[in-house]
Amino acid sequence: MCGIVGYIGKRDVAPLLLEGLQRLEYRGYDSAGIVITGKPAAGKAATLRMVKAKGRVRELEARVPKRFAGTTGIAHTRWATHGAPSDHNAHPHLDGEGKVALVHNGIIDNASELRVKLEADGVVFASETDTEVLTHLIARSPAETLEEKVRQALRLIEGTYGIAVLHADFPDRIVVARNGSPVVLGIGEKEMFVASDVAALVSHTRQVVTLDDGEMATLKADDFRTYTTEGSRTSATPTTVEWEAESYDMGGHDTYMHKEISEQPEAVDRVLRGRIDDRFSTVHLGGLNLDAREARGVRRIKILGCGTSYHAGMIGAQLIEELARIPADAEPASEFRYRNPVVDPDTLYVAVSQSGETYDVLAAVQELKRKGARVLGVVNVVGSAIARETDGGVYVHAGPEVCVVSTKCFTNTVVSFALLALHLGRIRDLSVADGKRIIAGLRKLPAQIAEILATEGDIEKLAGEYAHAKSMMFIGRVRGYPVAREASLKLKEVSYIHAEAYPASELKHGPLALIEPAMPTVAVVPDDDLLEKNRAALEEIKARDGRILAVAHQPQEKADHTIVVPKNETELDPILLGIPLQLLAYHTALALGRDIDKPRNLAKSVTVE
Ligand code: F6R
Repeated sequence: MCGIVGYIGKRDVAPLLLEGLQRLEYRGYDSAGIVITGKPAAGKAATLRMVKAKGRVRELEARVPKRFAGTTGIAHTRWATHGAPSDHNAHPHLDGEGKVALVHNGIIDNASELRVKLEADGVVFASETDTEVLTHLIARSPAETLEEKVRQALRLIEGTYGIAVLHADFPDRIVVARNGSPVVLGIGEKEMFVASDVAALVSHTRQVVTLDDGEMATLKADDFRTYTTEGSRTSATPTTVEWEAESYDMGGHDTYMHKEISEQPEAVDRVLRGRIDDRFSTVHLGGLNLDAREARGVRRIKILGCGTSYHAGMIGAQLIEELARIPADAEPASEFRYRNPVVDPDTLYVAVSQSGETYDVLAAVQELKRKGARVLGVVNVVGSAIARETDGGVYVHAGPEVCVVSTKCFTNTVVSFALLALHLGRIRDLSVADGKRIIAGLRKLPAQIAEILATEGDIEKLAGEYAHAKSMMFIGRVRGYPVAREASLKLKEVSYIHAEAYPASELKHGPLALIEPAMPTVAVVPDDDLLEKNRAALEEIKARDGRILAVAHQPQEKADHTIVVPKNETELDPILLGIPLQLLAYHTALALGRDIDKPRNLAKSVTVE
């Protein structure tokens, strides 16, 4: 949600920042802007030069003049929260004199109040954004250093931020600060980068420092220092980004979504690697921080996540109940945090998030921790806010996921839950034989996923048949239901076709009224103890002239089409049943000419409420 990139060094800054913005565009893409410290004429003060544009980064690029020279600058790609997408609401924001430039991710909660005060003092605002308030506060600070000006201004605001600031009177530095929105420093050879996401800087350096909340930094070309918003120095130990720059590229695919779906066999292989213990038919989860005695004391597991991660958590809860026999359920973190939940000391909470930044999940974790709960994370982005805030957890190792729509991360998250369930099960009552059986099933997954991906041509043809639908129904029962929910979310967000997901068992309680030839049904039909019940649901739909596309382990007589998926252990089948439906959503969107990697109105990490 919004992306920040900045650079100070010796290179021409505009192309570097534009490249960084392209890499961040998945975080927000309704407007973009760039500001540089222009080369001062001899004996003259430095001046800031800014270009902004509504729309994608390419619109901004088209507006950047040929002569736009400078070696220091900051840039932003926006996903609107306060103020509609427009040139003037795009970041950066300047103060009235054009001396201070600011880019900001996050939300300033008391912006309206501060705006009224500033306006009463004669400040004229150029935008409707909350960010501009902070720009004026920095510009009006009487402090002598840029660091102190920023610090004083930050003391006046309430809310979340990741910011980068330029000041024409301090042309040798960029000052940055973090509270709730990620800020990463990239350390180069006599050059420094700053970004909200390593994706923007990894092609230049893999040495990074991630700021903590309440931390600030001053970046100069050949040096940087970090300190708290109160001014005390902090120690910043650089770490190396796990992924090579190429992992952030499209790698020969036309879209990131296609690349990420195709990567799933290797991604699943990666999440399993080094974790399986054949000797004891269990798995090792190094970062879990939960010993056997503690694991035996867990009476309940509550899984919290949003969107696709919530759906992965729903499957996770079923896996935990089946393999570990611990009562478990999943709930949207966005709901949980607002309903004053009863926090029980014997309950283990698990926060699920690809980005590790989703504000609703982070806020739920913080509330739980405040109430003394034990919270684990199932997270993709290493070192992200949720990963740091939780007491331990499992990294899902899906690799960078750039498409706004999550695919490989969903699969790897479910596999991570299978590992967690197996681990807890083997500490409790799961037999050696069952442990062995699940391990064998897990090992089969990469090859079986590759087998499904090899049928892409057939799924593409099916997508052509269903792409004209205005609305689609997705059904599944127990293990199939979260798969149906996730598949329906995938279809609607990427193709904009309306989709409903229901438990197949609920059909007769209402949704059956919708069934007619123009409303096709996608039915997830695992070969489990509920197969006959599922078949009965297909008959009910057929009796109402509904068209059916089944995803099953064997052709379904009542279905118009069946996508046949290899069979694994019953507990693990949901992992495989979801894969062809990702391809179905992808090819439907492609047939409809949608903007697959950046669906309208959506952004990758939702870092606001
Ligand atoms: C859908 C999708 C979203 C995210 C949700 C949570 O394809 O990607 O529904 O799953 O916004 O994001 P994370 O997992 O980053 O917390």
